[in-house]
Amino acid sequence: MSSHPPRAWTSGAGSAAAPVAPGLPATGTLPGEHRGTGLGLPFGSSERTDAWWVKPLVQALGLVILLGYANWAAFLGADHYHFIENGRHYLSPFYSPYVHPAWLPSWLSPALLILIVPLGFRATCYYYRKAYYRVFFADPVECAVGEPRKGYSGEVKFPFVLQNLHRFFLYAAIVLLFILWWDVIKAFTFADVSGARFPGIGGGSLAILASTGLLTFYTLSCHSLRHLVGGKLDCFSCAVAGGPRLKTWGIVSKLNEHHMGWAWWSLGAVCFADLYVRLCSMGVIEDPLLATFRHVLDMPHVGGGP
Ligand code: FES
Repeated sequence: MSSHPPRAWTSGAGSAAAPVAPGLPATGTLPGEHRGTGLGLPFGSSERTDAWWVKPLVQALGLVILLGYANWAAFLGADHYHFIENGRHYLSPFYSPYVHPAWLPSWLSPALLILIVPLGFRATCYYYRKAYYRVFFADPVECAVGEPRKGYSGEVKFPFVLQNLHRFFLYAAIVLLFILWWDVIKAFTFADVSGARFPGIGGGSLAILASTGLLTFYTLSCHSLRHLVGGKLDCFSCAVAGGPRLKTWGIVSKLNEHHMGWAWWSLGAVCFADLYVRLCSMGVIEDPLLATFRHVLDMPHVGGGP
């Protein structure tokens, strides 16, 4: 008789599992066994009658513009990553946490030391992989559209085998999130000319809050996280802390339904927050102070400056 408690909560994975014939991978089919229509068609041709090319075109434009901006800001924008005037303390998310060791050559931007994490996280993200494989490698450019290549080896060879590092980038991204939320607290903390600090809301506070908030949703909706918190279980009631894991898995699953949306909104919001901080720092725009809560919290005097 089994010593396991009866299955009460399940992700459905167990019930969906079918026996797999010996010698076959867990999917039950050999890699490349089932080919899409597009494989036999000349590149770019299709029997589809809809405007199938619009989506990849828009995605390509979005990626080129936002990634182009992010690269420019990270490589060449080190002069205006911070705005600490008029009692404000805004730090561009591309430069957080700000690390500038003495050994770093002057021609190398300190942002690059940090960006390895968000860049690696996005580059190995399941959604972005789909997007850039389609728009930059045309592999496939869309469903049922002719492909340029006729062979497919999956992500088992270098460099694509590195996509499997996604889970480790997720761990690092979660650590970064805590630091970014600390930046949000600083962005909502102002100082007057005497150095007294008080909570308030400025335009930059909202830009940095939006950036970190959307990054949080993007990270929490990650497919790897969903797998980690419960997706890999087929019986929650048999697992340690099954109840809380089931709840967490449900929340992550809800967020995961909109992972593509979080991916785009968070990328746009990070670029916008950097641009906002940069324009304030360059004196191009003046940051509005929208509200202050000077008497709500009695914060310590810091002796001048923000
Ligand atoms: Fe997109 Fe993990 S799958 S962030």
